[in-house]
Amino acid sequence: AALPGLLASMPKTELHIHIEGSLEPELIFEIAQRNRVALPYSDFEALRKAYAFTDLQSFLDIYYSGASVLLQEEDFEDMALAYFERAAAEGVVHAEVFFDPQTHTDRGVPFATVINGLTRAADIALTEFGLSASYILCFLRHLSEEAAFATLEQALPYRSRFIGVGLDSSERGHPPSKFERVFARCRELGLHVVAHAGEEGPPAYIEAALDLLKAERIDHGVRCLEDPALVARLARDKVPLTVCPLSNLKLCVVDDIAAHPLRKLLDAGLVVTINSDDPAYFGGYLAANYQQSFAALGLDAGHAWQLARNSIDASFAPEPRKREWR
Ligand code: HPA
Ligand code: ZN
Repeated sequence: AALPGLLASMPKTELHIHIEGSLEPELIFEIAQRNRVALPYSDFEALRKAYAFTDLQSFLDIYYSGASVLLQEEDFEDMALAYFERAAAEGVVHAEVFFDPQTHTDRGVPFATVINGLTRAADIALTEFGLSASYILCFLRHLSEEAAFATLEQALPYRSRFIGVGLDSSERGHPPSKFERVFARCRELGLHVVAHAGEEGPPAYIEAALDLLKAERIDHGVRCLEDPALVARLARDKVPLTVCPLSNLKLCVVDDIAAHPLRKLLDAGLVVTINSDDPAYFGGYLAANYQQSFAALGLDAGHAWQLARNSIDASFAPEPRKREWR
């Protein structure tokens, strides 16, 4: 009975959250109105009703259209601040937050507008909520390597405002090998490296993310279970997986939350973390992801402390900060 309270209050980090995926329908309409952007839905309730997805692509289409209302620094700040406030209320002490600059720069929004709004929100989150936040720039993998290099170029004047790079968007048909050179350049720049792999894509994409991109964490990674040798490697090398149970349910990666492989991954000795991915679209923030998985899979307080501990260990926060949270 005390478990839901523990899950919502224990100190933990969130390592897999797309800030554009935290944009709630109400805020989409509010920002659309002030920016005089027209939306193909009558109101926020009609928009939320459209959130019925069959796979990753069916979600991405509506996720990119939701992000199209973001034009001004304040829009990015308001979006991120709303997320930080909710996360802090659920025991999140630290978040490493993905953002998708190409979704905005391709609409003519300057990179500076995006990063300035996000940076201001992170500064406020630290002072108001005691939540430390870092940003991870994600390249959209359905776009070209050349476009990724151009985005990196635009980002370099703001090198100190983000700690790493990631790879997201449509996985199938866009293997990590496509971005081997741009990730090599990012590593030379001292950036951390993560990548989405093994959400819809095969275990070979997880191996490629490790071997070619030198990913330090794998985002999702649930399909590793199809390859026992890969599971053994991930366990041996303690490669963290940022698992997102409600995302996997809503995007039909699993048919039922009770069929989610979270417990199998834990039992295999992997450094598993629980995360929300795109909470405004998938029906729950971090505590809901913990609570629904724990209820469906029969996990206990021991698992809770293990997962919170993993989330701290797997973060890129400085060791002294980690010690305060453990
Ligand atoms: N997978 C790939 N791209 C994404 C996701 C995801 O779960 N969420 C936002 N962009
Ligand atoms: Zn994701």
